[in-house]
Amino acid sequence: MNFKTSIGNRFILLYGSQTGQAQAIAEEICERAPDFNLHADLHCLGSVDKKFCLENESVAVFVVSTTGLGDPPDTALKFWKRIKKISLSDRHLCHLKYCLLGLGDSNYDKFANFGKNLDRRLQQLGAVKLADTGFGDDATGLDIVVEPWITNLWPALLNVLQCKSTDVSQTQNQLIITLSDISNSVIENSQIDKNTQSSEVMQIDEQEITLGKSTSALKDIDLNLPPLPKAFIKLKFDEVNFESGKYPANHREFPLAVSDLKYANLLSAKKLTNEEAKKSVLEICLEISNTELQFQPGDSFGIICENDDEEIQLLIDRLDLNTVADLSVNVEPINDDPIAKKKVKGQSHLPSVSSVRQILLTCCDIRAVPKKVHLQAFIRLLVEFTTDTQEKRRLQELCSRQGSAEYSSLIRDQSLSLLDLLMEFKSCKPSIERLLEHLPPLQARCYSVANYLNPDVIRCVFTLVEIEKMTGHYAERRGVCTSWLDKISRSIQVSRPNNEVITLEAQVSKLLLVDPLVDQKIAIFKRKSTGFHMPADHKVPIIMICAGAGIAPFIGFLECRHEQRQKGIASQNWLIFGCRNELKDFLYEKEIAHYRNSGTLVKFTLALSQSNTQKARYVQDGIKDEAEEFVYWVDDLKAIIYVCGDVKNMMKDVRSQIEECFMQQKGLTQEAATKFTQELLDKKLYLQDV
Ligand SMILES: Cc1cc2nc3c(=O)[nH]c(=O)nc-3n(C[C@H](O)[C@H](O)[C@H](O)COP(=O)(O)OP(=O)(O)OC[C@H]3O[C@@H](n4cnc5c(N)ncnc54)[C@H](O)[C@@H]3O)c2cc1C
Ligand SMILES: Cc1cc2nc3c(=O)[nH]c(=O)nc-3n(C[C@H](O)[C@H](O)[C@H](O)COP(=O)(O)O)c2cc1C
Repeated sequence: MNFKTSIGNRFILLYGSQTGQAQAIAEEICERAPDFNLHADLHCLGSVDKKFCLENESVAVFVVSTTGLGDPPDTALKFWKRIKKISLSDRHLCHLKYCLLGLGDSNYDKFANFGKNLDRRLQQLGAVKLADTGFGDDATGLDIVVEPWITNLWPALLNVLQCKSTDVSQTQNQLIITLSDISNSVIENSQIDKNTQSSEVMQIDEQEITLGKSTSALKDIDLNLPPLPKAFIKLKFDEVNFESGKYPANHREFPLAVSDLKYANLLSAKKLTNEEAKKSVLEICLEISNTELQFQPGDSFGIICENDDEEIQLLIDRLDLNTVADLSVNVEPINDDPIAKKKVKGQSHLPSVSSVRQILLTCCDIRAVPKKVHLQAFIRLLVEFTTDTQEKRRLQELCSRQGSAEYSSLIRDQSLSLLDLLMEFKSCKPSIERLLEHLPPLQARCYSVANYLNPDVIRCVFTLVEIEKMTGHYAERRGVCTSWLDKISRSIQVSRPNNEVITLEAQVSKLLLVDPLVDQKIAIFKRKSTGFHMPADHKVPIIMICAGAGIAPFIGFLECRHEQRQKGIASQNWLIFGCRNELKDFLYEKEIAHYRNSGTLVKFTLALSQSNTQKARYVQDGIKDEAEEFVYWVDDLKAIIYVCGDVKNMMKDVRSQIEECFMQQKGLTQEAATKFTQELLDKKLYLQDV
């Protein structure tokens, strides 16, 4: 074997990431490695065999997340399949020493499952662990685990790579802010007190804590700040305004896309809920006839949305960018430094030519929570652009090691955004170049397709997201994509004479009403399948469990089953639907009645949580009330169970209820019932749309 030993103090750094957190942490480790005389060879697990081969490595660091329901990130699947092969011997990786950080969210059943599985598998193959594996939890805040894990990583690596290193404590490249520094002078790279451990992190006491004011716990102490990230972007403005086309500027590669970006015409939009409903649900139809996109019920599409234009204007006002916001601008590396060049290239969501307004509107996630340490220490950056002494000190506190608890409770737990901080810290005026280095890409939002019959149209059904105003939010806010779609939909409704509604029947019978007044294109892509599909055999019974907009894929399923029935292939279909109130948000009531009358839907259970006439019931109560029938469908009729809705809450409750039914009806123990539902999940006889 040709092991890549510690030549040049090199180790391989591998990440498996779905939405970018694990990647950002790995990049940060890579960036910090030279401070320890180390060289990290950074790769995505997806480039196995192309860019790296684990069999040839002697020291590896893994940073991996978990997605789906305990699954590896998509880009890690190939690597995982390779090292999972049962033919590999238990000495296959015995030359390898490794450290592993797994990310997850403890709201999910299988917390950090991929990290745990990878850790176990590496050991089965003989690899030796250099340091304790860390499991960062999104639910409690990644920093709590990630920061100390990275701190411990360096001595572990230095030890095994046996390089002549500088004293670890000197290489942390952190900044200590002493009280005298409040007057603005700072001591770069000073030595950290070796005894300063995370136990020093100040716990929050019961006193009233506010974002803008120093607390007694922090105001009189020295602070350890993370290193200031290096600048790498330069903006070159032209004298002319940028002409934004009618298509979105955001053309970056979307990791979950299995098609190119296509432009679909918005055909219709209608509200499915009554004016009194607590949450509004909208349905939009997009024409895809010229896109070559194909779909089947259960598929979903990514929609490339835009940020709210008023929010962007507010940001532009706040940063004094009005005179340059619409000028044509080139995004370039700050200098000839190859690292800067590589980093600019890495910001693939930033178009090389655009305008500041267009970039903020279409490419950047301006709602992301400003990070304290990881993902490039956003708050640390804001410190540098704050002039007021008190405000500067407060931001220093919030990004310091000692201020972790306050950061978590005041910023992370309240999901504060950049604008929230800028509204609070009035003297903070970051440059747009530095912001663009830090704002993560605006993500596409996915929507299940809610039809089957007309291949030229996709219908999406979505809840308008209203986000609860938390402490520190400067204003009310709505979901980015759903409010954008709502805005566009309203403009169509205005432009339609007599507010004409395109009926479901009209769409289904292919009588598409392409409104010449509307030329609204929406960029979409087909998303990688989650496997949430109907059985190939249309005679197999199905139970569909959903709440609210979770009904979307099942409308497609029912259209399909109805068509099969008309062709003479009858099947048993049961829909269990949950909503608040039968008069306000009973989605697709007419269509459901039609399918019941025609025999396509042999059973329908409605669970109302805020009915005027019945006691509150959720979908799991619907299952409980018909436990015997449910068990009969699953056990005797071999029905496949489909669940679509809120991953974190509904999925768990439904599964527990199904287990409860089997315990009651079949006398299973809890352990046997859990095993039973797990087997159904493994055999894809129980599918959950995430
Ligand atoms: C494969 C797949 C299919 C999907 N299909 C559908 C679908 O058919 N219909 C549908 O409505 N959604 C669907 N979603 C969810 C959808 O992609 C968006 O996440 C959702 O519409 C919110 O987007 P937004 O940009 O408006 O809100 P964001 O700006 O992304 O949300 C802001 C915040 O609100 C919170 N939030 C998100 N949704 C809700 C909610 N419903 N209630 C309260 N808070 C919320 C989030 O935690 C987030 O922090 C699907 C997701 C996936 C992965
Ligand atoms: C659709 C989805 C599914 C997820 N599934 C799980 C899961 O099953 N178990 C878990 O521990 N975390 C789960 N998570 C949480 C992620 O692992 C966590 O947010 C992590 O920080 C993401 O890292 P990444 O951006 O590198 O992918 C899920 C997140 C999403 C968005």
